Amino acid sequence: MNKILIVDDELNMRLVLAAMLKKEGYGVAAASNGSEALQILKSGPIAAVITDLKMPQIDGMELLGRVSRKYPDIPVIIITAHGTVATAVEALKKGALDYITKPFELEELKNVVSKAIKTRDLKENELFLPPEEIERGGIIGSSQSTMDVFHAIKRVAPTATTVLINGETGTGKELVAEAIHRNSPRKNNPLIKLNCAAIAETLMESELFGYEKGAFTGAVITKPGRFELAHKGTLFLDEVSEIPRDMQVKLLRVLQEQEFERVGGLKTIKVDVRIIAATNQNLLQSVQRGEFREDLYYRINVFPINVPPLRERMNDLLPLVEFFIDKLNRKLGLAVRGMDDTVMELLLRHSWPGNIRELENLMERMMLLAKRPVITTGEVPPEFQANLQENAVAPSPEDKASFKDFMRTHMENVEKQMIIKCLEESGDNVTWAAKQLGISRKGLQLKMIKYNLRK
Ligand SMILES: Nc1ncnc2c1ncn2[C@@H]1O[C@H](COP(=O)(O)OP(=O)(O)OP(=O)(O)O)[C@@H](O)[C@H]1O
Ligand SMILES: [Mg+2]
Repeated sequence: MNKILIVDDELNMRLVLAAMLKKEGYGVAAASNGSEALQILKSGPIAAVITDLKMPQIDGMELLGRVSRKYPDIPVIIITAHGTVATAVEALKKGALDYITKPFELEELKNVVSKAIKTRDLKENELFLPPEEIERGGIIGSSQSTMDVFHAIKRVAPTATTVLINGETGTGKELVAEAIHRNSPRKNNPLIKLNCAAIAETLMESELFGYEKGAFTGAVITKPGRFELAHKGTLFLDEVSEIPRDMQVKLLRVLQEQEFERVGGLKTIKVDVRIIAATNQNLLQSVQRGEFREDLYYRINVFPINVPPLRERMNDLLPLVEFFIDKLNRKLGLAVRGMDDTVMELLLRHSWPGNIRELENLMERMMLLAKRPVITTGEVPPEFQANLQENAVAPSPEDKASFKDFMRTHMENVEKQMIIKCLEESGDNVTWAAKQLGISRKGLQLKMIKYNLRK
């Protein structure tokens, strides 16, 4: 059960919130101040925090700061009695997921909490990147493709041009968006993120444009949307392909005119917002299938940046491994120095469907299992181990020559298995398989002869 931590110095508030959340099937923990909240966070898993702002000693803002540093995966929702744009921006800048305004309706609370849980689920396993590293770009890699991405960031960051970041899952699209914002003249204004896949269709409009008091049941106050919050800053529309069709028209208008009305509002609000969108879908195909409006596609795809999959830039693997060893040593309090050649070889041969996120998770898993400062094949998870099965005989460590022989046969076996797997996946399409393996077609054909794999 997802447990929500409620932090408020008013007993009544805690009771009301707890009752509402329990009715929705959540577990509840309650604290009457910030330090109590931190104690509870230490003692067990919490899915989300809802905190009041005004409290004695550690107040809501400070608690938010501490939670987002220590528990970056736990979404924080702020309760505020004022609902001013200024407090909201400050809280969102400090990493709050959202805020609710007193007195709130059950509906509003329900929506915000379910968004928090969804965001947490999407974020799970991702690691927190300290702000210093984002300043440096936070993007590790020295391959030509990564250099191309850097150049693109440099060129487009100083402008207000709309950017579309394309790439498979886990390739670093969000990092690229952050780097653009931080290198732009808007860097001291907010970078507001909206994951279009985490918002229910019915809430999309009020999420983007805000709403006026009384616009619908539950709208007891006027609330600014993400566009308003991002004024003079950047709005990051993540998973932009997931925007429902009828919202696409409305989005198009804001992109064209930089103006909109809040839900239930008559006043036209003008904003100055830079848009960065990201997708792991082929948007052009979505257009062809009739799922994504063509006019919106051209509005968004002004300056495309393609972040290539890891398997196409294996030169980045070594620097990334070193970076993660360092980062995870600090995060987990470990002293891992590296991995042996066999493990490295296995990593080099993997096709990384989950890209850098997959690498990061694998590193964390192996580092936690490692009994010595160097990661060995013993720590490699079973799905990678499959590649090793064919050669189970271990060489005697004293005998260097036999070790070399062992390594050669061993590597050849791994290579053969990889090729068989790729050929199978491609329905024996040699060109495709060669591309997957990162070798030439000719090279693959030679290896197929060597391993007797020709049909
Ligand atoms: N070049 C890189 N150097 C260091 N860390 C990286 C790099 N690329 C990605 N990461 C890390 O990998 C994880 C995934 O990156 P990110 O969330 O930016 O990917 P994404 O492309 O937005 O993925 P998704 O499509 O699934 O949202 C993050 O923890 C990020 O910090
Ligand atoms: Mg992302």
